[in-house]
Amino acid sequence: MQKILSFLAAMLFCCCSADNEVKAEEPANTAKTLVVYYSYTGNCREIVNTLTSQIEADVLEIQPAEKGLRYEANNYALGTQLLNAIKANPNDVSSYPAIDPVTTSLSDYQNIIIVTPLWWSQMAAIMQSYLFQSASQMAGKHVGMIVSSHSSSISGVVNDAKRLLPNVTWMGDALWINASNHSNRATLIENWLKTLTFAEKNTTMDKIYITIGGQTQSATLVDNEATRELIAALQDASITVTLNDNDFEIWGSLGKSLTTKNEQMTALPGDIVLYNGSNICIFYESNSWSYTRLGHIDGLSENELRTFLKAGESNISVTLSLAKPTGIKGLSPNPSPVREGRIYSLNGVKIENPSKGIYIKNGKKVIL
Ligand SMILES: Cc1cc2nc3c(=O)[nH]c(=O)nc-3n(C[C@H](O)[C@H](O)[C@H](O)COP(=O)(O)O)c2cc1C
Repeated sequence: MQKILSFLAAMLFCCCSADNEVKAEEPANTAKTLVVYYSYTGNCREIVNTLTSQIEADVLEIQPAEKGLRYEANNYALGTQLLNAIKANPNDVSSYPAIDPVTTSLSDYQNIIIVTPLWWSQMAAIMQSYLFQSASQMAGKHVGMIVSSHSSSISGVVNDAKRLLPNVTWMGDALWINASNHSNRATLIENWLKTLTFAEKNTTMDKIYITIGGQTQSATLVDNEATRELIAALQDASITVTLNDNDFEIWGSLGKSLTTKNEQMTALPGDIVLYNGSNICIFYESNSWSYTRLGHIDGLSENELRTFLKAGESNISVTLSLAKPTGIKGLSPNPSPVREGRIYSLNGVKIENPSKGIYIKNGKKVIL
C-alpha cells in the first residue's frame, strides 16, 4: 500500500522550478551528442530541458506506438505486464512494446545520453524497446544515463542498460534524480556532467592500430555498422589475423562476420575494406570491386605501404588493436607480476595516478 501511495506521489512530483539557462563551457573538441529520452508524466522531459540548457545536444523523444495507455492504472497493471513480458524473454523483439519509428540516425553521434524513468525498479519498458532495437548502432559509442524515479534506487535500471547495450563505453556512473532532488536537478546535472568522459572528435574511437612484424601504424576508420562492430570486438581484445598477398593487397579471414554495406568502389593504396562480410583486405595498390569500406592507413606512401604490409609475402601476421602497443609491450595475455595492475593511457604511457577516463590495465581497456 505504501508503495502504491508513493507511486501516486511520484506521478505528481513534476517540479516547477526554473531551468538553469546558463550553458556550461563546452569542450571545443567534444563529438556530437544525442539525448534520447522517454517520459510518461513529464519529469524526464524536464530533466532533458535542463540538460540541454547546459550542453549542446540534439534531442530524440521515444514514443510508444499505442497512444493513450495508462501504465499506472489498476495498481500499475499495464506497466507491470510490459516489464514482465520483457523479463520472461529479453532476447525476443516481440517481448518489447512497439514504439514509433525513429528516423534519427545514430551514426551522426558519438555521445549518447539516455534519460529514462524507472518503473518497478527497472528501466521503463518503452525505453527498453528503443535500446533493444538500436543496440548494434550504439556499439562503440560513449553512453551516459540519467534515471528518474520517485524514490527507488536505480541499480536495476543500470543493469537493464548494461544488458541492452553490451558494447558501449559508459561515460561514467548514471545520475539518479528522484522526487526529493528533482527541483535541484540543474546543479545535479552540472556536477554530473563534469564527471563524464565524452568522446572527442577524431579520437581513438575512429582509430585502430595495425601491427605487422613489430611495426605499428594507425588507421582512421569510417563510421558504419561494420566499423562499430569491429571497435566493439576490439574493446574486448586485440584481433590477430593471418593475411596473404594477392598482387595488389594483403587479405584473409577476419575470423568474424561484420555487417556489410557493399558498394562498387576503387580501393586505393592504404584502404582497408571488408570483402564478403568476413574477410579483411588492406591495399598497397588499387582494385575495383564491391566492398564495405572500413578505413584507411594513415600517412604512408605506396612504397612505405608495400614495406609495412610485407607485400609479396604469405602468412603475414597482422594485429588490430584499439590501443597502440608501443610502451605496453609487457602486457601480453599473461602479464608479468611486475606489470600486472599497472595503468596505461590509450597511447601506452604509464599513468601513476589516473583521473577518471579510459585506460589500459592488464592489456584490456578499462573505465576508471
Ligand atoms: C509503471 C510505473 C512504475 C513505477 N515504478 C516506480 C518504482 O518502482 N519506484 C519509484 O520510485 N518510482 C516508480 N515510478 C515513478 C516514476 O519512476 C517517476 O515518477 C519518474 O519520475 C517518472 O518519469 P516521467 O515523468 O518522465 O515519466 C513508476 C511509474 C510508473 C508509471
